[in-house]
Order: sequence, then structure tokens, then C-alpha cells
Amino acid sequence: MMTELAPAPAPATDDVDRPRIFSGIQPSGVVHLGNDLGAVRNYVKLQWEFEAIYCIVDYHALTSTHDPALLRARTREMAASLLALGLDPDRCTLFVQSHRPEHTELAWLFNTVTPVSWLERTPTYKEKRQTQPDDVNHGLLAYPVLQAADIAIYKAGRVPVGKDQAAHLELSREIVRTFNARYGETFPEPQAVYTEAPTVLGTDGVRKMSKSVGNTIDVLGDPALIRKQVMSMVTDTKRILRTDPGRPEVCNVCQLHRFFGPDWETIQDGERTARTGCVDTKKLLADRIVEHYAVARERYIELLAHPDEVDGVLEAGADRLRPSAEATMDEVRHKMGLR
Ligand code: AMP
Ligand code: TRP
Repeated sequence: MMTELAPAPAPATDDVDRPRIFSGIQPSGVVHLGNDLGAVRNYVKLQWEFEAIYCIVDYHALTSTHDPALLRARTREMAASLLALGLDPDRCTLFVQSHRPEHTELAWLFNTVTPVSWLERTPTYKEKRQTQPDDVNHGLLAYPVLQAADIAIYKAGRVPVGKDQAAHLELSREIVRTFNARYGETFPEPQAVYTEAPTVLGTDGVRKMSKSVGNTIDVLGDPALIRKQVMSMVTDTKRILRTDPGRPEVCNVCQLHRFFGPDWETIQDGERTARTGCVDTKKLLADRIVEHYAVARERYIELLAHPDEVDGVLEAGADRLRPSAEATMDEVRHKMGLR
């Protein structure tokens, strides 16, 4: 099995007693190692303990992807990736954000309780202003408001994400706090839930692994691609000669071994004592990653060959959420004087 599944409890016959969690992921092509270790592993694990709702956030993607055919293809690819990695449609709800229009309605209402100054201070907004200076659209500024609405519409209290989402989550809490103070207690303040790898560094060993930086390891990609990406990883930059002792604590390759086998301490020791070289350690990591994701990769290919199956899961997910999204909107409209 490719992800650490908790031992299966008896299937829950209803979700009434299970607290609700929510997370969203952008349809940005295939899943990388940072997504899996930082978030998706937790999605899989937590679907056994919570009423779990997972959303492919295509509205959010529109703030930087403007090709309709590409967005449609990537949305389905992301759904297939998540199912291949272990999301079970009988244990969780997987859907596409734009299939539940209540998200944008609540986002509009949240816009009216969110000071612009909070949004202008958001780190990702400041960063995007630098990286896409010709495309600083209003959606980019309002991005965290929609994220807050995604979570709040289902009154989810916990949100499995990577550490890069900490500022967005803080803003979500501030937005619902402001709403609750103005219109009466309505939403819980959502808390982030992290994995043991809340920030996975990319192959450059310096920046967070991210598709936009191009430093990813594409876990469901072709084994040849995975090997190439792993072999390109920057290790301990101070270890010049094969006989130099390494510093596993600063080597990204050594750190990643923690997640792919019980013998990571031996591997780290090998580096520290120069018993093994960086190339050996990288080859071993590549082998293990390829092996670890082999079943998921097969399932991914299989699912993409049956797009109707994937689309069916997404449609059923959006339908299942209709009553709770509508109930929240009725409550909110009433509290805000709209009905
Ligand atoms: P995104 O692709 O930006 O929608 O990210 C999907 C999920 O993966 C979010 O919960 C992110 O916080 C998480 N994530 C993305 N990149 C990393 C990374 N390099 N390390 C840890 N978590 C990450
Ligand atoms: N901003 C998140 C990311 O880039 C995606 C996201 C949208 C999200 N809405 C969410 C994450 C709600 C958690 C909860 O990864």
C-alpha cells in the first residue's frame, strides 16, 4: 500500500458523530511528493476518523490558469490522483468546488466582513504580485476569502494542509471570527492539521517543493521521470569528495528517507561516516519512491482510462453536499437580513 493507512475501523453507518474536516487542493497537474507527504497522506488517514470533505478548487485555479481545456483536464487528473493515492469515495466526499455554487455566494458575503488591508498583507498575494505582475486580478486578492468560505460552508473545524497554508488558515479564522461577532455565533474557527512533514523541500534543497518553481518529484509520474528528478537533488553542498563525511541533518535526500523505510537512521549514519556516497543514497531513495507509489501509479493510469468513473465520483460528491451547503446558506442569509 502506498500510504500509511490507519487500521480500518468498522465502517461508519452515519456521519453524525464524526467531527467534520475539510481541505482543498488546486488542480495543478499531477501530485508531487510535497503534496503527498505534506497533506494528501493526512487526507487518506483522516478519512477513517472524521467526516472528511475534500475539494478540488477550480475557482481558485482561475486566478492563474486561464485555459479552459487545461483546467478541465487538470481537474480530472487531480481527482484521479487523489483516488489513486487512497481516497475512498465510501469514506470521504470528493468534489469540485465549482459544482457547489454556494461557495462563491458565501465568499461574497465574507468579502463584506474582510478588510482589504488583511488581504493585501497575505504572503501569497505579495509573492504573486512579484511572480505574475501582469495578472494581478481581483480574484488573487480575494483568494483567502473564498478559502474561508470553502471551509465555513460545511462548518469544518479542522483542515489538513501543509505549513504553507498557515497564513491562509489564520485569515480564515479572522474572517469567521469577525462574522460571528457581527451576526452571531455561526462558524467554528478552523484549525490546521499538519503531518510530520509540514514543509517538504524541493529538489533544489532550498525552496519548498512546488510546481511553479519546477523543483518537484512527481510521485505518480513515469519511473524514469521520478529517477531523473531524484538524481537531480541537491544534497549536502559542503560534502565535496566521496570520502568527506556528510551532514544528514541538512541533506534533503537523507531527510526524505525517513518516510520511505525503517532503516533511515542507518542510511543517515552511512552518510555521516562516508560509508555511503550521495549518489548511492539518491539511487536508493529513487528506488523506494518508485516502489512505494507503484500501485497508486497503476491505479492512476487505470482511472484516467475510465474518466466516467472519476466524473461519477465527483458528481456524487457534490450532490451529497447539497443539503449541508444549502442549510448553511439559509442560516447565513437569515442572519444577515437577506431573507
Ligand atoms: P496546492 O498544490 O498548493 O493546492 O497544495 C495542496 C496541499 O499540499 C496543500 O495542503 C499544501 O499546503 C500542501 N503542500 C504543497 N506543497 C507542499 C510542500 N512542499 N510541503 C508540504 N506541503 C505542501
Ligand atoms: N489554498 C490552498 C492551496 O493552495 C487550496 C485551498 C482552497 C484550501 N480552499 C481551501 C485548502 C480550503 C484548505 C481549505 O493549497
